[in-house]
Amino acid sequence: MRISVFGCGYLGAVHAACMTRLGHDVIGVDVIPEHIAALSRGEAPFYEPGLPDLLAEGIATGRLVFTTDQSRAADAQIHFICVGTPQKAGEYAADLTYVESAVTAILPLLKPGDVVVGKSTVPVGTAERIAERVRMAQPGAELIWNPEFLREGFAVEDTLKPDRLVYGMAQTDSARAAAALLDEVYAVALADGTPKVEADLATAQLVKVAANSFLSTKISFINAMAELCEATGADVSLLADAIGHDARIGRRFLNAGVGFGGGCLPKDIRAFMARAGELGVDQALSFLREVDSINMRRRVRMVDLAREECGGSIVGRRIAVLGAAFKPDSDDIRDSPALSVAAQMQLQGARVTVTDPKAIDNARKKWPELSFAQTVADAVAGAEVILLLTEWPEYVGLDPVELRERVAVPRIIDGRNCLDPVAWRAAGWTYRALGRP
Ligand code: UDX
Repeated sequence: MRISVFGCGYLGAVHAACMTRLGHDVIGVDVIPEHIAALSRGEAPFYEPGLPDLLAEGIATGRLVFTTDQSRAADAQIHFICVGTPQKAGEYAADLTYVESAVTAILPLLKPGDVVVGKSTVPVGTAERIAERVRMAQPGAELIWNPEFLREGFAVEDTLKPDRLVYGMAQTDSARAAAALLDEVYAVALADGTPKVEADLATAQLVKVAANSFLSTKISFINAMAELCEATGADVSLLADAIGHDARIGRRFLNAGVGFGGGCLPKDIRAFMARAGELGVDQALSFLREVDSINMRRRVRMVDLAREECGGSIVGRRIAVLGAAFKPDSDDIRDSPALSVAAQMQLQGARVTVTDPKAIDNARKKWPELSFAQTVADAVAGAEVILLLTEWPEYVGLDPVELRERVAVPRIIDGRNCLDPVAWRAAGWTYRALGRP
């Protein structure tokens, strides 16, 4: 298939590279010349495991091309919309500027039989408007809404082997013909038995935000339990293990800690609340307000724990923060709980040094007033307390005996409940965690 991908960020770059791996001819289009230049050299402008290899492979075959020239996508039969929908400044709602400009760029390229495929996360109702614009521009073209569920850090795997495919589409012959073309794009996954759900446009748009709302709720649920555990001396990790054995509940996404961040969950639940308000059903999602505030409270609690451990004040105290990315295997710092806690402590007068295996450059751009260290050894040198805020495997595997030699005071606060308290205490550390005695 000849495919275009509009938007070459976390979603689009991975999608473009993976589509080439599946045997298609792909042109990736973006408005940021530096990103296009990097991608054209086979370099990912962000860290995503497996992506550089796929880029290099695709570019070498000549079937993967990146450009800022939208007209070069005119040969494509299928145009994917993969642009971002960030939170609007000062509002809960999603900013659809990039979606609108991608659609405006695609419309003049459409030929009869072409398919526009929406993957970006949008407020329900957006796809219906885009479908209308597509119909007006080219009556022989169709829109299918095909939300993306990829997780950063596993984006390549999630795109090549999705756990489901959702097609939001009209029930017409031409929509079915468009869906058949999309089936060809995903032929490998479909042959592997990937479940496909065909739905109307509204349902397809809701699937994505409903999934992210559920995941956020699961995390905030366990973090609310962590608050109960803190008040009672119980252990939230054991609690999660025990309830997780119930197959109806499941253990995944029940890791209590400093909470969720990133470019998706926080802004998606807020945009969902904003949209529910517009639709007059804001009460249906009022629980998400609580999910959001439980999540934000964890960051405050983390700073409070650091203050407690420093004897009531963090002013002038040397604090080492392990982790800046919003989660491991990513250099993404958007709404990162780790950086938010680090910055808050710095603003309150602490001397904070942050380290991260991949996200330091991004973090420095956003918070230049923080100190950064390339290695754990440098970050913790002379520290009076360490906060582990992103559970990179190299931090989870730290040797408490060896690390003790480097710090001023052996005190660690485990913001991700990923260390073994027994081992750390045995090595002479004061170990604190969220929701654990
Ligand atoms: C998420 C969804 O998982 C994905 O399906 C969707 O398409 C985009 O949003 P992503 O943002 O990459 O993906 O990260 P995810 O792995 O979901 O983690 C989100 C946040 O939740 C991270 O900050 C993570 O640290 C946190 N988290 C996750 C927890 O605090 N506890 C958990 O048990 C799991």
